[in-house]
Amino acid sequence: MTYVVNEKCIKCKYTDCVEVCPVDCFYEGENMLIIHPDECIDCGVCEPECPVDAIKPDTETGLEKWLELNRQYSDTWPNITSKKPASPDADAYKDEPGKFEKYFSPKPADSDIDTAPAAGAANVATAAAEKRQDP
Ligand code: SF4
Ligand code: F3S
Repeated sequence: MTYVVNEKCIKCKYTDCVEVCPVDCFYEGENMLIIHPDECIDCGVCEPECPVDAIKPDTETGLEKWLELNRQYSDTWPNITSKKPASPDADAYKDEPGKFEKYFSPKPADSDIDTAPAAGAANVATAAAEKRQDP
């Protein structure tokens, strides 16, 4: 199993979660984080840290879509290992429903690239691949 980040993170990115992860398996998109399913060791310490309850074990029902999304972007979004300021207006968005349909961005963090990110994302993917080979 793994833990997954769901749409509650979108446009919030409080990043309290990354501070506690013992294996640094959070990755950052333009407006949400995800967890690399193959790196997460299921320790569960991040779940209570998220102020908007965006982190759940994949054993809960209805999370298949989010597990797939976490997996899909974990090889291209950059690793994030320390807390940073939350997204602008995070508190205004934290209780909004339907954020995936309205706001989800497939872009990696700190990217101005609209489609098919090239060099930057490739480097990130390489770094992620190298990270996975670490003992
Ligand atoms: Fe990291 Fe543990 Fe959360 Fe997995 S469950 S993302 S290993 S803190
Ligand atoms: Fe997102 Fe919650 Fe972490 S809002 S960045 S999953 S603390």
